[in-house]
Amino acid sequence: MSLTNFPGGGVSSTNAPITKVTMPALAEMKRQGKLIAALTAYDYATSRLVDEAGIDLILVGDSLAMVVLGHDNTLAVTVDEMLHHTRAVRRAVRRALVVADMPFGSYHGTVAEGLANAVRFVKEAGAEAVKIEGPRAELVRALTEAEISVVGHLGLTPQSVHRMGGYRVQARTAETVKKLKADAHALAEAGAGALVLEGVPREVAAAITAELPIPTIGIGAGPDCDGQILVFHDMMNLTFAPPAKFVRRYGDAGALMRAAVEHYREDVERRAFPSDDESYHLPEAARSTLQPKPEPVPKLHTLRKA
Ligand code: KIV
Repeated sequence: MSLTNFPGGGVSSTNAPITKVTMPALAEMKRQGKLIAALTAYDYATSRLVDEAGIDLILVGDSLAMVVLGHDNTLAVTVDEMLHHTRAVRRAVRRALVVADMPFGSYHGTVAEGLANAVRFVKEAGAEAVKIEGPRAELVRALTEAEISVVGHLGLTPQSVHRMGGYRVQARTAETVKKLKADAHALAEAGAGALVLEGVPREVAAAITAELPIPTIGIGAGPDCDGQILVFHDMMNLTFAPPAKFVRRYGDAGALMRAAVEHYREDVERRAFPSDDESYHLPEAARSTLQPKPEPVPKLHTLRKA
C-alpha cells in the first residue's frame, strides 16, 4: 500500500491538517515528556466532541456496562455490545487512538479464544488497539505477534471485583507492590504499547512510570503517570452516584440536561413550544383549501312547505 494512503486524520473543519495519534506516537510522547490526555467514550456524538477537543486516546471502556447500560458492574457487557459501541466511536473519531476494552469472559479462556475475540474488535469495529485487564503476558505476546496493539491494565481491575472483594486501592504492601512492578514489566516485555494503572498509591504509579519503557496512563493513580484517563460520565456528572476520590467534575451535564428537559416539558404543557416561527406554513395560494366551505342556503319554497 502506498504510504500516501495511510489513513491519517485528514483535515479538520477549519482545513488544518490532523496528525493521527498512533500507538508509536504515544511512546514518542513519553520520550518527549508530553502528557497523554485520555477519556472514555461510547457513542458518536460524545466521541466527536472528545476527539475534536484534542484528546489523544479514546477508550471504549467496558465501564459502558455501568454508565450507559445501567448494570451494577462491568461483568455483564458482551463482545457484541462492545463491538456495537466501538463502531459508533470509530465513525466519529479522526485524530485520537481508538482503543476497545475486551469485556469479561472474552479473553479469560484460551489464548486462541482471546486472539479470535481481539481480531473481531480490529476487523469488525475498527479498533486500533485492545485493552485487557490483569497480568496476561502470554496473551499480550500472542496479540502483538498477530499485529494487534495492546493496552494493559493493572492495579484495581474492575473485572476482578469479586476476587478483590470490591473496588479497593491495590498494591499497598511491599509484597503486592513488588508483584505489580513485576507484572508491569512482564506486560511491557510481552509487547504492550501502554499500561493503564488504576487505583494504586501515587508513589507506586510514579515508580512504575519511571521504570517502564512504555507510557503509563493513570486513573486514581496520582499525577506522575505519563497520562491520565477518566470515565466521561464521571467527569460530566452523569453517573447518579457520589464520585470516587480521584474524579474531578469538569462539567455538570447532568444539571444542564435535566434543566433543559424540564424547560421543554413546561413549554409543551403551556403550548409555548413550538412557536409560529418554528412551524411550517401553507403557501398563501393554497390556504383557501383549508377555509370552511359556506353551507348551501336552503330555497325559500322548501322552507315554506316544511
Ligand atoms: O472501562 C473503563 O472505563 C476503564 C477505565 C477506567 C480505564 O477501563
